[in-house]
Amino acid sequence: MADLSIDFAGVKSPNPFWLASAPPTNSAYQINKAFEQGWGGAVWKTIGAPVLNVSSRYGGFDFGDNRLVAINNIELISDRPLEVNLREIAEVKRLWPDRAVVVSAMVESKPEAWHDIVRRIEDTGADAIELNYGCPHGMSERGMGSAVGQVPEYCSMITSWVTEVSSLPVIVKLTPNVANIVPPARAAVAGNADAISLINTINSIVGVDLDNFQIQPNVGGKGSHGGYAGPAVKPIALNMLSAVASDEEVRRAGLPVSGMGGIQTWRDAAEFLLLGATSLQVCTAVMHYGFRIIEDLTDGLSNWLDEKGIARVTDVIGASIARISDFGDLDLAYKTVARIDPDLCISCNLCYIACDEGAHQSIDLLVDGVRVEPHEYNGNGHRRPVVAEDRCVGCNLCSLVCPVEECITMVEVPSGRESVTWKELSRRQPEVTEDWQAMQEYRNRVGIDIH
Ligand SMILES: Cc1cc2nc3c(=O)[nH]c(=O)nc-3n(C[C@H](O)[C@H](O)[C@H](O)COP(=O)(O)O)c2cc1C
Ligand code: SF4
Ligand code: SF4
Repeated sequence: MADLSIDFAGVKSPNPFWLASAPPTNSAYQINKAFEQGWGGAVWKTIGAPVLNVSSRYGGFDFGDNRLVAINNIELISDRPLEVNLREIAEVKRLWPDRAVVVSAMVESKPEAWHDIVRRIEDTGADAIELNYGCPHGMSERGMGSAVGQVPEYCSMITSWVTEVSSLPVIVKLTPNVANIVPPARAAVAGNADAISLINTINSIVGVDLDNFQIQPNVGGKGSHGGYAGPAVKPIALNMLSAVASDEEVRRAGLPVSGMGGIQTWRDAAEFLLLGATSLQVCTAVMHYGFRIIEDLTDGLSNWLDEKGIARVTDVIGASIARISDFGDLDLAYKTVARIDPDLCISCNLCYIACDEGAHQSIDLLVDGVRVEPHEYNGNGHRRPVVAEDRCVGCNLCSLVCPVEECITMVEVPSGRESVTWKELSRRQPEVTEDWQAMQEYRNRVGIDIH
């Protein structure tokens, strides 16, 4: 069985799965229960400034039959008294010396306030501190949360207030509510952070009730923008993770990254690891299904590693990063076309419509080998979709809409052209990238036909 243990900026845990700072880590009762079921660590629900929460505070985003594809929240940090949280953190750490107990904090943007909370967290015996620069609602209006995370200068300033006094590893948790995640990550490096975590929640309005026009969630007739999380945010989280994990400055400084945002299955977890996450945090999936999902997460990850003959989870961290490329470095001569397996096809025609109306008119419908126009054909013959490979641009759309698994596959075919990237082309023949006439001549010469 693969070794799932990790060492994250000096914080050790028996597996990479930590509960993210959120409602499931509100109390000692919950974290004790989670650790009993096998969670490797927990980031305590953010403690710090005094707050009052509203009711209601969550909105659900359902898609088709799938409940809670994402959750939206207008919850603030912990509303339990600071003393109670600190006492329970100390209790949990005493009971679970082998698990990662990280304390998330957020206080007023003043050095004294941060120095004080750091000292109090250190006194609990916790393993690390996570700085919450993420809350996009409620706290940001008070100059905390994403009001810090969105300004790199504030990120480095507050991080250095913490690192100048902290004896514990300091993790900076970034907000995704920025145009570019790299500057705040570099600011964390400049502030001497020991690690980065991402993503916190994304600004959102989850819905409007069509009966009464209320914003969701509804607080006495009013609503507010909130933070979005859960499976629907995974692609955004993966992109931000890869941007940070592959950044030169972050790599040179050797900061590990804790990845989160939409992790629900071991497959999600594996993708986060491959794109550079050293530890993994989970919130929405636990709010939906409870702590028991840890069994599937650890078993699935461990089986996948065993099947691949990989002995330690740490061996896959970042293994896909080298495959991330600028558009300008992609091979323009690489070619794929769609191929339909007639034995699997159920003649639903979705691929035909998608290609005809949403792509490049490269699928023909044949009845007894003869091409028909579907809106003109009234017969009962079996309409078989066939890809005209010479017209197919290999966009993938038909394979994405086809309801039958493996029915449409994208097949690599020789393009007959020499490999060239956009960057090489612009260097060798700049006129081609600047002038449509020159571009047309280039296409004619190398045999690129666009219809
Ligand atoms: C209801 C709710 C409350 C949250 N509270 C906090 C918090 O107090 N501190 C924090 O750093 N992140 C908080 N988060 C963000 C999560 O820690 C996590 O970054 C985010 O939910 C993405 O992970 P997920 O997709 O697994 O939920 C909260 C998220 C939710 C849904
Ligand atoms: S890959 Fe794109 S262009 Fe080719 S058949 Fe499918 S939808 Fe049409
Ligand atoms: S979408 Fe798939 S199943 Fe439907 S007609 Fe096309 S190939 Fe056949």
